[in-house]
Parts: sequence; structure tokens; C-alpha cells
Amino acid sequence: MTDLESTLSASLAAATDLRAWDTVRVEYLGKTGKLTELLKQLGKLPPEERRARGAELNLVKQRVTELIDARRNQIEAQALDARLAAERVDPSLPPRGAAPDGPPGLIHPISRTIEEMAAIFGAMGFAVGEGRDIETDWFNFAALNIPPHHPARADHDTFYLPGTRDGRPLLLRTQTSDVQIISMLEQPPPLRIIAPGRTYRADHDATHSPMFHQCEGLVIDRAITLGHLKGCLIDFLRAFFGISALPVRFRASYFPFTEPSMEVDIGWNRKTGELGAGGDWLEVLGSGMVHPRVLANCGLDPREWQGFAFGMGVERLTMLKHGIADLRNFFDSDPRWLRSYGFSAFAPPLLHEGVAP
Ligand code: DAH
Repeated sequence: MTDLESTLSASLAAATDLRAWDTVRVEYLGKTGKLTELLKQLGKLPPEERRARGAELNLVKQRVTELIDARRNQIEAQALDARLAAERVDPSLPPRGAAPDGPPGLIHPISRTIEEMAAIFGAMGFAVGEGRDIETDWFNFAALNIPPHHPARADHDTFYLPGTRDGRPLLLRTQTSDVQIISMLEQPPPLRIIAPGRTYRADHDATHSPMFHQCEGLVIDRAITLGHLKGCLIDFLRAFFGISALPVRFRASYFPFTEPSMEVDIGWNRKTGELGAGGDWLEVLGSGMVHPRVLANCGLDPREWQGFAFGMGVERLTMLKHGIADLRNFFDSDPRWLRSYGFSAFAPPLLHEGVAP
């Protein structure tokens, strides 16, 4: 190593930020820098000396450049480490404004219900599927046998969005039933999925919110009957409410994407609000055998494949299970409400007894 290189190394080591580093760089490689001056003097040498000295200086220049570049990388890496350490996020800190020894975070009742649904249907062999909040009117309506001008479109108070996808108008999905279409198009049957997710309708009062949650279910196989639908939903409702003898009633109804269609009621006492007894009926979800036209829209031959579908409101089932009267509470973010209705992340296992394996 030449003297020049050792003084350079010392100067570089002393430079701890990019500004100081640049001063050193200019001192050696700048227009009037130390190395540049040496190279300029080459021209003054006699030709026979010039060649050897030139080769020597080229090597020096290469090493000087390497030293300078390496120090730059080092300074940048150190700066990044320092920044990462300074900007570290500590997820165990209490929320801003909370007392340091205040209550720990809790699971929101909506999240808890979705976890319970996934656990109960999971035990029955269902996987969890996902859809998209922004959907086209084909997935949300047309493929589900709800063509333009169908009265069901008017019921949904849809938020339409500017723009199109695949030439179809965009909207905020009004139901999770779009996941039926997504699943049938993306995966070959047999299928067994539930799809919890957000849905949107222009509606706001004590029992409606412009954003709410539904959970869809879909089973497609070769020999699926109404009996499977009934058994599956009875098991689910009894497990979810934790009432093994919960009365469940299937009532003929109409949905464009199922045939036949059924609304599902559970037994309760209208006066006291108690579930499971009392002789009154309360509607809790919609269901039916997947309409042959919906199967065909997804490329499945209805003579080979059948199935059933169901859809339920997550807020509604949560309100019934926990005696919550006003749906707006879910989205007010009032810590006092959340503290009494939230669930510990370490709550007991999600599965109640009574789910058929
Ligand atoms: N999508 C319906 C709604 O939002 C609920 C529903 C009914 C879903 C019947 C289904 C079904 O899959 O079979 O009201």
C-alpha cells in the first residue's frame, strides 16, 4: 500500500457521514485532487518512464476508488441501521392516550364471530375463500342470475363506482355471494368453502350500516341434496349459539341464484329475547340449492354437479348471540363498549360441543 493509500484510509475512517466522505473523495479524485495531480504529472515524464509509472498509477487509482466506494457503502449501511433502530415499532406498547398499565387490547365481536364461523365450518371440512370489495356487476349480480333490471338489483341500494373492469361497471359488492362465482371459476369441483367479508349498501339505521359483513357458504359436489344443506346448517346454528336442541325451521323463499330457496329461522321467545325456546321464530339466514343457470355461468354442467349455498349477516348473528341492540355500536369505536363486548385474545377454545365431525 502506498503512503497515499494509507493517508486516504485514515481520512476515510474519520469520515462518519456522507458529507465528510465526499470531502475526502474530492481531496483525492477531484479536479485538483491528490491522485489527479499525480496523473497530470505523467505527461511531463520521458516516454520510457511514462509507461511504467502510468501502469503503477492506474493500479493505485483502482484501489483508491475501491476504498472510497467501500466506505460509502459502509456509511450508508450504518445510517440505515441507525434509522431502523430509531424507528422501531413496539407492538406491545399501550395505545396512544392509554394508561401504561391499562387494559390489554381485545378482539372485536365481529372478528370473534368470523373466527367462530371459520372454526365450526372448518370442523366440517370447509376452507375459507376470499372475494374482492370492489367487484363488477357481473360477479355481484349477472353471474348470480340477477340480470340488469331484475328487481333484486333495486333492493340492494348499490354503491356504483366510476370506471369499468372487463367492460363491466364497477361497484362495492352488496353481498358475499360473488365468492360463489369466484370459487367456481377458480377451482375445479368438488368445493366446500365459506367466505366471510365486507359488503356495502346505501343504508344506515339501528339495524343497517353502509358497510357490514356477511359470510357466504358454498358446497359443490356430484350428489348433493337438500338433506345435506339442512344437516349442515342445523349443526352450524346449534354449535354457533351453543344450544344443542335449538329449534331450526326451513321456510320456502326466493333468491335468484338458488332453486329451491329457503330462509332459515331459529326458535326464540319474542318477549324475552331468549333463544332456543318460546314458540316464536326468528329469521337468521338465506340458503338454497345452487341454481342450474349459476352453475352453467361458471362452466359447470348442472347434470353432473349440484350444490347448496347460504349467506348470513355477521352483525345480525353477533347481535343475537350477545344481546346487542344497536348495530351502530360495532363501528363507533367507543372503548367503553369495546371493553365490555370485546373478547380476550386468550379466550377459551372457539369450538362448542355438538359439531358433527
Ligand atoms: N346474498 C343474500 C343476501 O345478501 C344471502 C343469501 C341467500 C346467500 C341465499 C346465499 C343464498 O348463498 O343461497 O341477502
